[in-house]
Amino acid sequence: MQDNSARFRAIQLRASALTANASGHAAGDMLIELDAMQRELRSADSARTDVYVAAVFAVVAGFNVLGRAQKMGPLLERAIDICRDLPDRRLLRRALSLHGYFTGDIINAPAALGSLQEAVEIAREMEDPVAEVSTVVNLGVVLTNIGWDDNAQRAFQLAWDVYERWPEAFEGADASGAPAVLMAAAAAANTAAISSQLNDVERGLEFSARARSLAQSQSANAQHRTVQLHYDNIHCILLAKAGRLREAKAVAESMFATAKGSDNVRWEYLALQAAGMVEVRHGKVDEGLELLRKSHRRAASISTGMEVPAHLMLADAYRYVGKSAEALQVMRDVSVLLKKTQRLHFDRADPQASEPDDREWENTRPLGWEDTITIDSKLVALENLAAAAEAKQEPSGEHTIRVGALSRLVANKLPWAVELQTTIERAARLHDVGKGSVPETLLRQRGPLTWQEKEFLHSHAKFGEELICEQLGTERGAVYAHVARSHHERFDGNGTPDALAGQEIPLEARIVHAADAYDSLTHDRPWRKALPHDEVRIYLSTEKSAQFDPAVVDALLQVVKDLRGTGRSLDDQLVEKAEPSEFVTARRELGKLLLN
Ligand SMILES: [Fe+2]
Ligand SMILES: [Fe+2]
Repeated sequence: MQDNSARFRAIQLRASALTANASGHAAGDMLIELDAMQRELRSADSARTDVYVAAVFAVVAGFNVLGRAQKMGPLLERAIDICRDLPDRRLLRRALSLHGYFTGDIINAPAALGSLQEAVEIAREMEDPVAEVSTVVNLGVVLTNIGWDDNAQRAFQLAWDVYERWPEAFEGADASGAPAVLMAAAAAANTAAISSQLNDVERGLEFSARARSLAQSQSANAQHRTVQLHYDNIHCILLAKAGRLREAKAVAESMFATAKGSDNVRWEYLALQAAGMVEVRHGKVDEGLELLRKSHRRAASISTGMEVPAHLMLADAYRYVGKSAEALQVMRDVSVLLKKTQRLHFDRADPQASEPDDREWENTRPLGWEDTITIDSKLVALENLAAAAEAKQEPSGEHTIRVGALSRLVANKLPWAVELQTTIERAARLHDVGKGSVPETLLRQRGPLTWQEKEFLHSHAKFGEELICEQLGTERGAVYAHVARSHHERFDGNGTPDALAGQEIPLEARIVHAADAYDSLTHDRPWRKALPHDEVRIYLSTEKSAQFDPAVVDALLQVVKDLRGTGRSLDDQLVEKAEPSEFVTARRELGKLLLN
C-alpha cells in the first residue's frame, strides 16, 4: 500500500509538471507519457485512496491540454467509484463533474447528465459556490454540445446568478488551481454565445461585456489569452449584429493585433471570423466572405469540433447576404462532419461493438422469436441520438418516446402488425435518427424553405437508414432501417424517398408515419403552434388513402380516443406506457435541477 501511494504521488507530480509546461513538450511525447500513466492507473487494482484519485485528476488534466480527455471516461468512472468510499465529498464532486464534462456527447448524454446532476447536488449540499458554478457551467457546456439550448441557457444563467450572490467566494483558485473568477466569466460568455445564436442581441451584449471584464482582470498566460480572444470574438459578433459597427471593428482590429505574429492558429481563426462578420454586416460582402472562408480553413486545421461552428457561421453569413445556394452547400458539408463525429461517439460509446449486452427485453404477451429485442449499447445510443435530434424541434424532448408508445398501441390493434409491436415501438423511436446529421439551423428554421433546402431536409430518412445499418448491421437493423427510410412515404405514392404506394410501403413505416404525424401536429414546432386534437383527427381522416393507410388511421384514432377518454393527459399516458428511456428520465431530472 505504501509503495502504491508513492507511485501514485509520483504520477500526479509528473502529470502536473507536464501539464504546466505543455507548450515546452512535443504533443506526441506528452501523449505517450500520459498514456503510460493512465495504463498504470487502470491496472492498479487495489488502490482506493485519495492519492490515487489525485493522480487520476492530474492525468485527466494533461489529456485535456492535448484535447484528448474524452477518452478518460473509464478512468474517471473508476475514480468516482473510489470516491464514494472516501470521506472527502469534494473529491467525489470533482470526479463526477469531470466525468460528465468529458464524456458528455449526444450518445452518452444520459450518463453524463446523471454525473453532473449528482455533482451539482453535492456542491449545493457543501454550500460551495465556486464548485457549484464550475459544475453548472460544465453542465451547460454538455447541454450545448447535445443541442438543448434552452436548458443550456438556463444552466449558464443559474451559474451566473450563484456568482453574483457570492462574488467574494471567487477571489481565490478553484479545485483545478485556476482563478475561480474565470468560471464566472465562462458562465457569462456562454450565456452571451447562446443569446447570440438566438439573436437576443441586447442580452448577449450585456453578458459578453461581463465576461470580457472578468477575463481581463486576470493576468494573461497563453491559455487565458485564448479564452479572452474567444470572448472578444463573441462580443465583436454581437456588436456587428447590433449594428454598432465602429465598435465591432475596433475589437476585431485589436484581436488581429494579438493574433498577428503569434503563430497561434486558434487566435487567427477567432480574429478572422470576427473581422469577417463585421465586414459582411458593413456591406463589404466579398471581403467579409473571404475572411470567413479563411477562418473556416483555420478551424479545419484545429479540430473537427471547431469546424462545425465555423461552418455554421459561414452559412449564416451566406444567408444574410442572400446567397442561399452557397449556404446550403456549407450545410451539406456540416452534415458530413456531423456524421463523422457521430461515428467517433459510437465507437467510444461501445468499444466492444459487436458484443450484444445481456439486457433482453420481451413483450409481456407470448410471441414468436421475431419480437424479441436485444437491447445493447448501440441501440440505446441510436435512441439517444434520435431523441436529441428531435429535441431541437420540440422542447419536451419526448416526441420519439410518445411516437414509440403510440405506434405500439396502434400495432396492437392491427392483426397483421400485432406480432411485431415490440419491434415497432423501438423502430418508431429511431424514425428520425437521421436528423442528427442535419444542421440544427435548418431543423429550426422558421421561414419558408427553398425546395433544395426541403430536399436536403428530407434526406434525413436516408441518413437514418444508413446509420442504423452501419451500427446494427443490415440484418438486425432491418426493421429499424425500413422505418427510418420509409416513414415519409405516402399511401398514394407521392411521398419520399422512393415514392412507394400502398402495401409496397413496409407496414411498420405506415404505422410510424401516422403516429409521427399525429404527435407532431398536436405539438408546437419552431415554425407553427400545436393544433387541437379535433382538427388533427379531421385532417387524418380526410388524408385516408392519400397520405395515410386507412386501416392505420382508424386504429390510431381509436387508440387516441380511448386514452383521451380517461380524462388524463394523452402525453403523460403515452410516456408511462412507453418502454423506459434513459434520455427522458435524465431530461426530466435535469428540468427539476435547473428550476431550483
Ligand atoms: Fe422524419
Ligand atoms: Fe418525428
